[in-house]
Amino acid sequence: MKVHELPQFTALQSAADSFKSDEKLHLRQLCSDSSRCAGLVASHESGDAKIILDYSRQQVTGETMETLFDLADKVGFTAKRDKMRAGAKINSTEGRSVLHHALRMPKGYDYSCNPEGKAILAEVHEVRDKIEEFTNKVRSGEFLGATGKQLKNFVCIGIGGSQLGPEFVNEALKADAKAAKAAEGRNLRFLANVDPVDFELCTRDLDPEETLIVVISKTFTTAETMLNARTAKKWIIDGLAAKGVTDAGTITSKHVIAVSTAIDKCVDFGIDEANIFGFWNWVGGRFSVCSAVGVVPLSLQYSYDVMSSFLDGAHNIDEHFFNAPLRENIPVILGLLGVWNSTFLGYETRALLPYSQALKRLPAHIQQVDMESNGKRVDIEGNPLPFQAGEINFGEPGTNGQHSFYQLMHQGRVVPADFIGFMESQAPVSLDGEPVSNHDELMSNFFAQPDALALGKTLNEVAQEGVPEELRSHKVFLGNRPSSSMLMTRLDAFAIGQLLAIYEHRTAVQGFIWGVNSFDQWGVELGKVLAKQVRAQLSSSRKSGAHVQGFNSSTSALLEAYLAHGK
Ligand code: F6P
Repeated sequence: MKVHELPQFTALQSAADSFKSDEKLHLRQLCSDSSRCAGLVASHESGDAKIILDYSRQQVTGETMETLFDLADKVGFTAKRDKMRAGAKINSTEGRSVLHHALRMPKGYDYSCNPEGKAILAEVHEVRDKIEEFTNKVRSGEFLGATGKQLKNFVCIGIGGSQLGPEFVNEALKADAKAAKAAEGRNLRFLANVDPVDFELCTRDLDPEETLIVVISKTFTTAETMLNARTAKKWIIDGLAAKGVTDAGTITSKHVIAVSTAIDKCVDFGIDEANIFGFWNWVGGRFSVCSAVGVVPLSLQYSYDVMSSFLDGAHNIDEHFFNAPLRENIPVILGLLGVWNSTFLGYETRALLPYSQALKRLPAHIQQVDMESNGKRVDIEGNPLPFQAGEINFGEPGTNGQHSFYQLMHQGRVVPADFIGFMESQAPVSLDGEPVSNHDELMSNFFAQPDALALGKTLNEVAQEGVPEELRSHKVFLGNRPSSSMLMTRLDAFAIGQLLAIYEHRTAVQGFIWGVNSFDQWGVELGKVLAKQVRAQLSSSRKSGAHVQGFNSSTSALLEAYLAHGK
């Protein structure tokens, strides 16, 4: 049975109608029931690292949650999740397994899965060992640049899943004491946009002699990445020629490395096979940060030791996701709430609001993980969906977002939000004379905002404050805006891995419930094909003055104007 044909689906639709019309189901009322609130909390502990997920400010009752768990049961959620774990080819449109969780299994872990006839855990650790050895050599100065200088600038060239995940982790580690110490004197940058301005800004203060280019591309065909890689190779070769090294092969082998599934293409590019780090088709691009995609550049910058801890954190949540009962399972609860908010309550967007500056790139990464995965119009069998799947994800760290888009969240549209906060700061500061530490000040906002959204302020309360009549309606907050609060102990490499896995699995949960294939991305293809046609036109018009043809009238007119400029 399809999800929308299940009685639980219909029951949730009528429950959603009640939530829209019944004042007794306003969050102001629901949040005053302490036994309800106590029942809407899940937690997870690993050593002294805690995660508390409080979802009592979601528009749900215990009964709603039970119906959602029941819906999950009836769509065969557990079987789907377990098939994923076991390596079944659940990405059916590409005939691939989905095994990013295998990337973070420790050595010796009991896992036998051979999707392509090879024991994948052995392969994973073969590559991890190679990364450890290579990155240690670069960090210690055993592997040097072509002029004998130490390589301390790492420029990663990649886009989408080959950039966003590693960039998020890089930002998150920058202020972690252990990682920051390991990164001293080193410089990790990401170059994604084919806009030449990005290249210029990324490289203009770097010395090619001390720079290692890391080309990251699963396919090694992505147009933006390949042009940036060719530009970077030329930049390195020209830079070193000025220092008297003229052999392009030597320069490339010392200054350009690659991460890819397409080893032969990397070799054709001139990269020494010893410096190519592979991964596999069973790792989706947006789920690849735990493969060499993230582990190579981040180990260069922060050490393999720090990255091992990140992988352990992700594995810790994998174990929780695959084994914990659904009612205690953090990614499952978050995924079901996403389905409830979007499919039943009709909220199309959601915000990810980390109260941590270090997580400034988490929303961008999860935006890709989630929107490229679940932004689908058909189910896994190709039938049009009778509801919208996927959600519009955006976010910013608090408190910055409060001074930007929170106005709309408080008094405009309803945007369900995930607040993420920490008990400890990465960089604690306390000033004499201040009532609280700087971290407590940040966290005051983390605790206050969900209540402001949920409870709001009534006209009566506004009037009692003595607000003049003509201003009262402007100062009313309707409240009833749902959010979840996730409180974690501290943001270190382990916790960053945990957060990553929580949000990766949340996306998979939603896809399993909606019945879509969360692991393909055909929607990115058409634009790439059309860009190829435009590229060919620009090339022939620039070279031989060929007239623009083969496009619709508006695109032709724009192209003519573009080509005519500067003539
Ligand atoms: O945007 C489409 C996409 O295929 C993403 O899924 C992927 O993360 C990105 O392009 C980069 O692809 P590649 O790693 O093959 O260069």
